[in-house]
Amino acid sequence: MLTAYDYPTAKVLDEAGIPLILVGDSLGNVVLGYDSTVYVTMDDMIHHCRAVTRGVRNALVIGDMPFMSYQANVSDALRNAGRFLQEGGCQAVKIEGGEHMAETAHRMVQVGIPVMGHIGLTPQSVNALGGYKVQGRTLETARQLVRGAAALEQAGCFSIVLEMVPVPLARLITEKVGVPTIGIGAGPFCDGQVQVVSDMLGLFTDFVPKHTKQYTHLAQAIRAAVGDYAREVREGQFPTEAHSFGMKEEVIEELKGEL
Ligand code: KIV
Repeated sequence: MLTAYDYPTAKVLDEAGIPLILVGDSLGNVVLGYDSTVYVTMDDMIHHCRAVTRGVRNALVIGDMPFMSYQANVSDALRNAGRFLQEGGCQAVKIEGGEHMAETAHRMVQVGIPVMGHIGLTPQSVNALGGYKVQGRTLETARQLVRGAAALEQAGCFSIVLEMVPVPLARLITEKVGVPTIGIGAGPFCDGQVQVVSDMLGLFTDFVPKHTKQYTHLAQAIRAAVGDYAREVREGQFPTEAHSFGMKEEVIEELKGEL
């Protein structure tokens, strides 16, 4: 699974055979330039979901429900989840939270909205968690994550993201639950992996999380390309005839005569 936020990226990921595309609220950081996902709105998410789903033919597209679009009450949650399917064109939604979100997930599943859970580091709760830290290192917090995963499975979630969870705990949870776990910073024993596309392509460079592997360095490539462009324009090497349009000689001659 990879995230995508726009039409061209979604199209390339889909063509490359990525089976799950998440329109993550990480777009708050990597596309909109906020320092937290807390500022992302429903309208932001729907706008980007529409762009992504226009580019996807095969992958399952999951819309990430933003902060306070599902936490206040179940009717808000159902209505907003419905918007992801009806307006965004997504096939499923993702929500953050364990046991305390199980009832909400269950109600969504009951009305026909497939739900992906997300436990461990849940960035929408960064202010309560005290930062972007590994979760579940103590016995009590590890137990809480195990209970959370079980509750989400019981609620009908079709899959669960484990974010920044120690490897042995992620492995235990993966073995315990019957639905696929998708890890990010949760080691190799999860059933699948997810990465933020802008991180793994080296496009977002404000910070590089420890769990990110940069498979390429797009920011560097773009910097080099726009540098070449600007130099060629200054030096008169661009545009050439190959990038320009002509017209009939007699038309331009007649026009010149009129001026
Ligand atoms: O918003 C996001 O991109 C996510 C993934 C990191 C799972 O929630």
